[in-house]
Amino acid sequence: MTNRSPFSQNVQSMHGSSTLKAAQAATDLREKGFDVIDLTVGEPDFDTPQFIKDYAWEGLQKGVTKYTPASGLKGFKEAISDYYAAEFDASFTPSEVAAACGGKQALFNAVATIVDPGDEVLIPKPYWVTFPEIVNFCGAKNVYIETEETDFVLTADQVRASITDKTKLLIINSPNNPTGRVVPGDEMRKIIDVCIEKGVYVLTDECYLLFVYPPADIFAAASLPAEYLEYVCVAGSFSKTYAMTGWRIGYTITNKAWTKQMIKLQSHSATHPTSFVQYACARALENRERSMKAVDEMLSEYKKRRDWLIPALKEIDGLKVSMPEGAFYAFIDVRSFLGERYATSADFSNKLLTESHVVTTDGEGFGADGFLRLSYATSIENLQSAVDKLVSFINGS
Ligand SMILES: Cc1ncc(COP(=O)(O)O)c(C=O)c1O
Repeated sequence: MTNRSPFSQNVQSMHGSSTLKAAQAATDLREKGFDVIDLTVGEPDFDTPQFIKDYAWEGLQKGVTKYTPASGLKGFKEAISDYYAAEFDASFTPSEVAAACGGKQALFNAVATIVDPGDEVLIPKPYWVTFPEIVNFCGAKNVYIETEETDFVLTADQVRASITDKTKLLIINSPNNPTGRVVPGDEMRKIIDVCIEKGVYVLTDECYLLFVYPPADIFAAASLPAEYLEYVCVAGSFSKTYAMTGWRIGYTITNKAWTKQMIKLQSHSATHPTSFVQYACARALENRERSMKAVDEMLSEYKKRRDWLIPALKEIDGLKVSMPEGAFYAFIDVRSFLGERYATSADFSNKLLTESHVVTTDGEGFGADGFLRLSYATSIENLQSAVDKLVSFINGS
C-alpha cells in the first residue's frame, strides 16, 4: 500500500467550480422543502427558441447523425463566417473557424495549444472561475490584473504594466462574468494593440457578445482588420445567446495555424460537437432575422430586470454596485457589512442562504473577496422578493 494519491497532480490542484457549488446549495435547500430564491444561475431562464429545436429535428431527419470533421461541418463554419461578415463586417474565412463543445471547450483548446509550462497568462480580476483553472492545468502561471481602480473595466495601461518577458497570453472577457461590465470598443482595440506590440496573444471570451445594453456598444474582436487574427483568438458560444446551454456548442475564430493545432487537440478528445446541433446552429445563423429577433426579445427582458434591480440595490445603505452594461449579473460590494456579524463575503452569502434562503455566489471564486454575484436570469418577482429579503437580512430583522 502506498500513500500516493491515485489521481494526477494536475487534477488535484484544480478547484471545483464555486458557481456550481452555490447552485448545489440552492438545490439541497429546495430538496429540504424550503422556498429558495436562486440568484446563482449562470444560464438564461428562457427555453431554446422553437425554430432552433425544429432545425435540430430537421438535421436528424436528413441523417446528419454521423461524425463530422473535427473542425465542424462545412456549413457550420460557413454560417459563422457569413454571420460575422454580415453583422460585424468581419472578413475571416471558414477555415479560420473551428466548432467546439461549448465556449468552455473553445477556451480550453485555445489555452492548451498556446501556453507552455512557465509561461505567464494575464487574467483581469474579477475573472470567470474557469480561466485560472485551465491555465494551471496547462502548467502556466496566472498573473492577475487588478481592475477595481477602474471600476472593473480593464484598460490598456493596466495590461501594459502587467506584461513581462514571460507573458504569452491575455484572457479577456467582455461583457464580463461576474461583473457585467463592458470594455468599450476603442479601449479593447488599444488593449489588443498593446498585446500585439509586445508579442502577447489574446484570447477573447465573447460568450455574452450580444448581451450588451445600449448605450454600451457590442465589440466583436473579429471585426478588427484580418491581420489581428494572427494574435487574437475569439471563443464564442451559442449557450447564452440563444438559450442553448445544454446543447454544448461553441467555436473559435483565429488564424489557420492556431486553428489547426486546436483541431488536432480536439480530434483526440471530444472530436467535435454533436452533428445535428451544428446543423441547427448553422440554419439558425442563416436565418438571421429570426435568430436576432429571438435574441432581442431575451435581451429586452434582461434589460427590464437590470433596470429594476440595480436602482433597488443602490437604495440599500452601505451596499455598492456598478451598473452592468452587459451579461445578466450584478456584482455587489458587501465589504461595508463585514465585521462582527459576518467575517467574509462567503460568510455573508452563507448566512443569507441559511437564514433568508436567498442563494448568491460569493466573490472569492472570482478572485474578488468582499463581493457577491447576483444573477438576474430570473423573474422580476423573484428579484423583488430577493431584494426584500436582503434588506431584512442586513437590518437583522
Ligand atoms: C464567461 C464565460 N465564458 C464561457 C462560458 C462557457 O459557456 P459554454 O461552455 O456553455 O459555452 C461561460 C458559462 O458560464 C461563461 O460565463
